[in-house]
Amino acid sequence: MTIEVHAAGGSCPIYVGDGVFSSLGEITERHIRGVRATVVSDANVGNFYMDRALESLRCAGISAEGICVPAGEGSKSIEMLCTLWNTLHGYGMTRSDAVVALGGGVVGDLAGFAAATFMRGCPVVQVPTSLLAQVDSSIGGKTAIDMPYGKNLIGAFHQPAAVVTDPQLLSTLPPDRFTEGMAEVVKYGCICDAELFCGIENGTVGTEEIVVRCAEIKAGVVSRDEFDSGERMKLNFGHTVGHAVENVMGYGWISHGEAVSVGMVASARLGERMGITASGVSERLAALLTSLGLPVKCEFGVSDLSRALLADKKMCSKGIRFVMLRDIGVSECVTVASEDLLKSLEWVIGQ
Ligand code: GLY
Repeated sequence: MTIEVHAAGGSCPIYVGDGVFSSLGEITERHIRGVRATVVSDANVGNFYMDRALESLRCAGISAEGICVPAGEGSKSIEMLCTLWNTLHGYGMTRSDAVVALGGGVVGDLAGFAAATFMRGCPVVQVPTSLLAQVDSSIGGKTAIDMPYGKNLIGAFHQPAAVVTDPQLLSTLPPDRFTEGMAEVVKYGCICDAELFCGIENGTVGTEEIVVRCAEIKAGVVSRDEFDSGERMKLNFGHTVGHAVENVMGYGWISHGEAVSVGMVASARLGERMGITASGVSERLAALLTSLGLPVKCEFGVSDLSRALLADKKMCSKGIRFVMLRDIGVSECVTVASEDLLKSLEWVIGQ
């Protein structure tokens, strides 16, 4: 099936379904004017899928080459970006040719930003291979690299020419990476889809259905708020405390999904304490996340966490912005005065 993201620069199709990866070449050929493609992957994913990607592109008449970057967040660096620019130049790519981002969030962000900047922008086709990338990061055009002073600080909005989402590719994903992605899936249930939340609780939704439902939700949100000034901020549910947890623990020591899991419960507990969230929601949420193998508590004290929260870019003069739940499936953005947050923090993070 195809889901459309309606963006300012035109429509971006998400081709989603088991087996759609085998049509990568045909889909790319349909959406670019050029004759070349450079597939960017990482060492892990490239081992499984690079050859199939190149073959599919070449069968569709596209001259395709591949490059693999080291797996991991460390590749979202200015040095690796420069390596990609040089590679694209070396392969004779023009601004009509395509970068194909074959991987999880790191590859999608890095290759997407290389495409956004090479020759002032060439098309990118996103082929997400992690659950997190399939349900979230490959959709909506956010691309970025990290700087020594923070994550995702240099980047651009660059909508993909197409997204090719094949849930079958998740069969080679390590189980802990799948679990990490489930945190973002639960997030969608929390912010706007109570039925999805119940389906996960009862084990009645399969992986393909989960991917399709989440892609539909994200496509809708991005179509209504491409540049993140309103509704799209709701996708940050759990991310305010989550980013602070990642920051304090050190990137790489806790996965993004695990940190978001802790952050979602903290936000629900804070919401209950403030009388915004219906009572019992944080407990129900924590029970689901725990059953999925995700953490729901911080293992460290509040002073470092407070510092990280106050340094966050979601901080504004009136306080810090949180996405809070009214109930499962109903959310809103709330600004919490920093004094109120700091007073409740110890209780909120569950110690
Ligand atoms: N992952 C959040 C967003 O795309 O806005």
